[in-house]
Amino acid sequence: MESFVSVSALASKERYEEIIPQIESLIAGERDTTANLANVAAALKLALGARASWLGFYLLKRGELVVGPFQGKPACVRIALGKGVCGASAEQRKTLIVPDVNKFPGHIFCDPDSKSEIVVPLICDGDLFGVLDVDSSSLNAFDEVDQQYLQRIADIISHRMKSWT
Ligand code: SME
Repeated sequence: MESFVSVSALASKERYEEIIPQIESLIAGERDTTANLANVAAALKLALGARASWLGFYLLKRGELVVGPFQGKPACVRIALGKGVCGASAEQRKTLIVPDVNKFPGHIFCDPDSKSEIVVPLICDGDLFGVLDVDSSSLNAFDEVDQQYLQRIADIISHRMKSWT
């Protein structure tokens, strides 16, 4: 694989535009779930830089979310559906933007630095695979631009995940 991800100093929209084709090329031709999600997490961290204090995947396994590849400090391993922001996003099958995690009832504090968060479910043909979680150490770090692009990335992943091992 020749692909080394690069991201220039651009605004967040342009950074996403730049990283999406690179993510597609990183996962093209590889069917190992751990390898692909690890590379997506690393690429996304490059794109988001200091805006993301933690980002990664929680994967649905036997009815609960289990932490998958991520970038950041060690995180809680298992989250029940409906619990925390991740569990709520998975259960409601919708993207949740939380501008202030202290105001989200039941927020799970994995990282004391985390102040805001966006969680995007990974869904394909009605099947839930897990969620993509991005945390920030700033309040109100994520907006509709993040939602739009992170959903696109979640879409790219979840449509391929079915055929991954
Ligand atoms: N804060 C999340 C838990 C996961 S960590 O932030 C990595 C939540 O409330 O679901």
